[in-house]
Amino acid sequence: MDRRQYRVLNTLIVFQRGDITEQDSGAIVNAANSTLLGGGGVDGAIHRAGGPQILEECKQIRNRQGECPAGEAVITTGGNLPAGWVIHTVGPIWRGGSHGEPEQLGNAYRNSLQLARERGIRSISFPSISTGAYRFPIDKAAIIALDTVKKFAEEYDVPVEIRFVLFSDNDLRAYLEAWDKLTGV
Ligand code: APR
Repeated sequence: MDRRQYRVLNTLIVFQRGDITEQDSGAIVNAANSTLLGGGGVDGAIHRAGGPQILEECKQIRNRQGECPAGEAVITTGGNLPAGWVIHTVGPIWRGGSHGEPEQLGNAYRNSLQLARERGIRSISFPSISTGAYRFPIDKAAIIALDTVKKFAEEYDVPVEIRFVLFSDNDLRAYLEAWDKLTGV
């Protein structure tokens, strides 16, 4: 099983195995850090595949508005990527769950969707934000991500497609289980 999709009003929610840098959606989301200067994981993959243009634009954003706090999002072009835009958002670092991490994770998804909507970007691909180096337990993160995305899709018609691009079968399974729990399918 590599791909599942569900409809929420006029929005398609897609779950698939894959590499976020290969997605041809209007925008892909980067699991960045507050410096916006790159890193490992998704961040490293996107800068490697997207080329120096993306880092250049991140530096210009930093010079204008400083670092990007957890839960916030900024946007650059996609450089050499198939996606036209990269939305860089900063997930929370997991510190046990009582330091505002759940709210910050929800904000990272919501602010990324809001940026896409404001620019009329019709499809967006998310990685599993904060569940790698930032050690957010994936079962908890998936519920927060999907609850946030479902509520956004119930309120707005753009983006019309929201993809979750998971890097492993386990991650894909965790998100599908969270969706079943959330929607009671
Ligand atoms: N495509 C899709 N998902 C990926 C890819 C990829 N190419 N590479 C890694 N992932 C997955 C990981 O398996 C994990 O499930 O993305 C999820 C998020 O992992 P991280 O990239 O470590 O992101 P995060 O946990 O949010 O930590 C962010 O790591 O890379 C640094 O600069 C980044 O400091 C920031 C921190």
